[in-house]
Amino acid sequence: MRRLVIGGTVAALGAAAAFFSHHAEVLALQLPTRVLAPTRAEVTTPRAALEHFQCNRCHVVEGVAPPSAPLAENCVTCHQAILAGRLDLWYREERVTAWREHLVHLVRTPDLSTLRRRVTRAWLVTFLQAPHPVRPLAGAMMPRLPIGPREAALLADALGVVEPQSGPPSRGDASRGEALYRQRGCGACHARGDARDLRYGAPEFREASVAQRRAPDLAWVPQRMSEAQLRAWLTAPAKVQPDTKMPPPGFTADELDDVVAFLWRPALRAPPAAPRAPRLLDRRVTWAEVSGKLSRHLCFHCHSDGRRPGDRGPGNSGGFGYAGAGLDLATREGVLRGVRLDGGWLGQPDRLAEGMPRLVASLLARRAEVQGLAQGEVLGMPLGLPPLPDEDIDVVYTWLEQGSPE
Ligand code: HEC
Ligand code: HEC
Ligand code: HEC
Ligand code: HEC
Repeated sequence: MRRLVIGGTVAALGAAAAFFSHHAEVLALQLPTRVLAPTRAEVTTPRAALEHFQCNRCHVVEGVAPPSAPLAENCVTCHQAILAGRLDLWYREERVTAWREHLVHLVRTPDLSTLRRRVTRAWLVTFLQAPHPVRPLAGAMMPRLPIGPREAALLADALGVVEPQSGPPSRGDASRGEALYRQRGCGACHARGDARDLRYGAPEFREASVAQRRAPDLAWVPQRMSEAQLRAWLTAPAKVQPDTKMPPPGFTADELDDVVAFLWRPALRAPPAAPRAPRLLDRRVTWAEVSGKLSRHLCFHCHSDGRRPGDRGPGNSGGFGYAGAGLDLATREGVLRGVRLDGGWLGQPDRLAEGMPRLVASLLARRAEVQGLAQGEVLGMPLGLPPLPDEDIDVVYTWLEQGSPE
């Protein structure tokens, strides 16, 4: 993400702030990204694909101009603005401080402008259709969007990612490469197939350094990168991605061959832990608990009511290429009204064929999605975020089974 250059403007606006409504839009005048309106037109061009899926609600997308947009709809930009102190004039200090503590998961997204030098087209096209976590400590993940092969190809065109030429096979020695990998401390930042399966809110996300949060799991390297791209990266990372947090490794030509051979070797992945079924707690669960834990902080930016600026979020009124499920998770009334289908609301209890409430089924589906397993009847929730801890799922399950009390 590019830095926002709006600090000075905020100071200048200080005296005038009282005249503006408590609307974040004012700041947006200077933002380098613009939210793209969802289009209903056929997605037939690369540009239309970027607009339809609203990629720049989360990423800076090159060439998507003009700048400026309602900040109220710009997910990552707004979170960054809060962390950088740019909304302090508009809101009470305690609120902003509390927000800052909560904002961990969607505060940075990868730079897409250097993608063409870093990944293969084959990987990109697969990833866009079925995203997997790349950076285990980033907190947020690429959301699963309604992207098919045709849209994925258009998006790859939009990002200028072409299939690289395959070079000659590596001549290095993988075991020597492995030893170098250890000696140089690559594992201080990188996982290689051994990342832990973390849940939403895990302290690891908060405690990791910026470099660790940005470092990809190197088990994906054989799919993600061509050999030439990998060599270029290991020779001079900053030439590929100018703002990289990775120090130049300074390998000799032979060492480079060995490390390439090692990174090319498939990494063993730990088998995913067997998921456990949700449990009914033998105590009363109230809406206050459900709302405090989940809906007000986590779900509601995508499933809002009409009381915050901007749209009602992609999970309610639509966005990211989704039509919207009509689901407001900001209020108890919204949850009770449930998901909209064929013009009517399904209400609660909204059970799937096997009797599981839809809301809970979507939380369980997310566990499978991040492990690259079945993408079933419901969309995994929270979209693009780590699965909830089992205990939190139990709370939602119990609340719904108790008849969703106040
Ligand atoms: C809700 C926010 C969100 C939206 C919308 C979104 N992304 Fe992402 N995207 C992310 C996050 C977070 C990551 C980092 C995932 C990781 O590293 O595991 C990511 C990763 C990626 C990556 C991998 C980059 C890399 O260096 O590994 C690509 C490519 C990508 N997004 C493209 C897109 C495109 C194209 C769109 C629009 C179709 C889009 N994204 C929409 C949040 C989003
Ligand atoms: C106008 C500013 C603003 C916009 C726009 C915005 N958010 Fe947020 N977001 C916040 C604030 C403030 C919090 C902290 C809320 C709290 O603590 O109750 C937050 C919290 C979150 C959280 C939980 C924080 C965490 O680190 O886990 C998620 C997830 C989230 N937002 C997703 C989104 C998504 C997705 C979008 C775009 C569809 C979005 N937000 C748009 C201001 C914004
Ligand atoms: C200080 C942390 C750090 C260390 C140490 C480190 N890296 Fe990295 N590496 C990163 C980050 C961060 C990125 C992603 C680029 C960015 O956002 O800065 C990265 C990217 C990579 C990539 C590209 C992977 C992809 O999927 O895009 C490879 C390959 C890589 N590193 C290999 C290595 C090797 C080999 C070593 C040991 C010599 C190493 N790294 C040491 C932080 C580190
Ligand atoms: C990053 C945005 C985002 C976040 C965060 C998010 N959702 Fe969603 N949600 C969506 C989108 C988009 C849809 C699909 C809308 C559609 O079908 O058109 C959706 C749909 C749903 C559905 C209907 C699923 C189905 O397939 O029938 C449920 C249930 C749901 N969300 C629950 C939740 C819960 C609970 C949370 C918080 C734990 C949450 N969502 C967080 C974006 C989000």
